[in-house]
Amino acid sequence: MQIRKEGTKLDSRTDFRGITGVLVEKDPVIEGKTKAVYQVVDEPHVVLASKDSITAGNGARCEDASGKAEISNEMTCLIFSYLKEQGLPVAFLRRVDNKCLMALALNMYKLEVVERHEAFGSICKREGLEKGTKLSPPRFELYLKTTGRVWEMNDKKWDLICDDPRMEIDSKIVKLYDPGAALSDAKPFLELCIKDVFENPEQALAHIKEMAHINLRATQAIRDLCAKVGINCPDFKLEYGIHGPDGQLYIGDVADFESGRAVYNGAPSGEELYPNLIGQHICKEFFRKGGDKDETVYRYGVGLDLLRKAIAA
Ligand SMILES: Nc1ncnc2c1ncn2[C@@H]1O[C@H](COP(=O)(O)OP(=O)(O)O)[C@@H](O)[C@H]1O
Ligand SMILES: [Mg+2]
Repeated sequence: MQIRKEGTKLDSRTDFRGITGVLVEKDPVIEGKTKAVYQVVDEPHVVLASKDSITAGNGARCEDASGKAEISNEMTCLIFSYLKEQGLPVAFLRRVDNKCLMALALNMYKLEVVERHEAFGSICKREGLEKGTKLSPPRFELYLKTTGRVWEMNDKKWDLICDDPRMEIDSKIVKLYDPGAALSDAKPFLELCIKDVFENPEQALAHIKEMAHINLRATQAIRDLCAKVGINCPDFKLEYGIHGPDGQLYIGDVADFESGRAVYNGAPSGEELYPNLIGQHICKEFFRKGGDKDETVYRYGVGLDLLRKAIAA
């Protein structure tokens, strides 16, 4: 990492992009809805810069939410530091400033890796389960990350009936399903050859097995941490990528209350600081269901406050 000294001349390729003390390439490697990713100059690292935007329905609703970036960044730093302490392979390296963190640069899998410990959301419809049903063992689910209802690979293009379809891998075939369809009559709407989904199918299959172990441990750790301060975390999504010459698998991206559901059930002991939030979602679900953006950011802030207390406990 290069630290700017006073008077340092920057070439036209590089800049600080408002990122404290870290020289990064001027143009982001990738810019999504909620953050921009910058390559760190001369290091195999990236800076993830959170944005003050909040989205739902695959970007159908996107609003400017002042204060969100800081809370998301702090929460990710806190959760990832905690997971690292538990010995989990996390790409997170350090907090850079109030909106940015540094991580190993990963070659990301285009997957959302979901662990469901209790039934909420799409699985209720899919499997006819009542909300809150304990899932034992927890369900490990893969969703293919797509935008614009298309999948492109090897100079081919497929139209999809929805974005982020649920996927199942059956030997060399990747089956894609509408996440909302009932399992009883669910047929895949598309079957792709595994080489049209992953650059290195053999490595991907080995990594997915590894993800299943890591994901269970990581989400259970998050769930236990949250439970200390009365937060129920029924499900959580993580994203994974590859780093280094040996193709090591790491948890990448972020981990905040947009990554999973979080319901506040009240302080397990002692003084109740948030009586009005008991039984309420303090995660993105509130916004997804039409909640006001500022109230959503307030609730994320409550989540951060509680998580800090959980870590200190
Ligand atoms: N450590 C990392 N190295 C490289 N890319 C990353 C890393 N962590 C996350 N990313 C990528 O950064 C992008 C994050 O942007 P985001 O705003 O969440 O967009 P998206 O809508 O694609 O999820 C994603 O494409 C994600 O794969
Ligand atoms: Mg994302």
